[in-house]
Amino acid sequence: MGLTITGLGTAIPEQRLTNADLERMVDTSDAWIVERTGIRERRVAAPDETSATLGTDAAAAALKDAGLTPGDIGLLVVATTTPVQLFPSTAVRIQDALGLRCGAFDVMAACSGFVYGLVTAAGMMTAEAGLAPGRGSASSEGRAPVERRPSLVVGTETLTRVVDPTDRSTRILFGDGAGAAVVDHSVEPDWGLLSWDLGADGSLVSLLEVPPGERWLRMEGKEVFRRAVRVVVESSSVALEKAGMKPDDVDLFVPHQANVRIIDAVCSRIGIPSERTVVNLDRYGNTSAASIPLALAEAAEDGRLTGGEVVLISGFGAGMTWASAVMRWEPRP
Ligand code: UT7
Repeated sequence: MGLTITGLGTAIPEQRLTNADLERMVDTSDAWIVERTGIRERRVAAPDETSATLGTDAAAAALKDAGLTPGDIGLLVVATTTPVQLFPSTAVRIQDALGLRCGAFDVMAACSGFVYGLVTAAGMMTAEAGLAPGRGSASSEGRAPVERRPSLVVGTETLTRVVDPTDRSTRILFGDGAGAAVVDHSVEPDWGLLSWDLGADGSLVSLLEVPPGERWLRMEGKEVFRRAVRVVVESSSVALEKAGMKPDDVDLFVPHQANVRIIDAVCSRIGIPSERTVVNLDRYGNTSAASIPLALAEAAEDGRLTGGEVVLISGFGAGMTWASAVMRWEPRP
């Protein structure tokens, strides 16, 4: 049995920070930002909004989209780079706010976090489904039937709170928001997640980090850019190969939304045309772990995911980490 996304939801703060606003705050220009990044505006969380409240709203919307209630959910995985506090996890706040009765934990893989979270949830659901009563033991008596409850995977961020307001090179890039997906057992075995590739290179921590004891994010933008293109191309190719597919088979490419020049470079190297690629960073900037579920939700809403499409998602970020997955979108019943 496969694992598939059956519901998507988003939560976007109301406050917009446009390039024109930034022109008044740091030494930059709308023309420079649009040309170098493709970003026109991003959202900024209100003082009472956190990665937990945004994540809760996105998760509630995903549940509604899937036609489920909190009691149906068997696992909550939250990907965030900007947790509410060092501990406990942001996931337990979302679990409480939604009234979920299940395990809940955070995954930290920066902008690759949503794909890491998706794979984690899918792996745990597959493992549980494989624990058929009695398997590997002499007697199955007394064992409860295996549960097949869906999971919630949330990507949620308040990146604007870790960006130095005086640093023009990073302030222009990041935005706040959340996206969530319900992951469930698919109706047909060949729908849903087909393959994935996860990677990390911890020798590159200093390229993008909030250094220990410091408040603001630091980034070597040029080097991140260069490596991002390379790892997304490589990781996407590995995931496609594992799924037995070629770039031509991809109906929809949903890359991490960091910089339109990175997306363009990746598309031309892999050989996926821009018409088959989702870009929404012009309106949200880089929302890290939230960017892929946000883009997936928008694509579904725009009618680009109706069922049967081969979807490639691929993220990269601080760590460095990278993660790609190939899915065949399951049609709604
Ligand atoms: O999720 C992963 C997160 N990170 C990324 O994906 C970031 C990847 N990197 C990038 O997107 C790009 O490297 C940036 C958008 C951050 C920078 O673009 P760039 O084309 O690599 O510019 P640069 O850093 O080489 O800077 C070029 C010039 C510099 O001036 P000089 O030295 O040529 O006089 C910068 O000082 O542009 C200047 N500059 C700016 N000018 C106006 C840097 N930031 C700005 C700005 N406005 N906001």
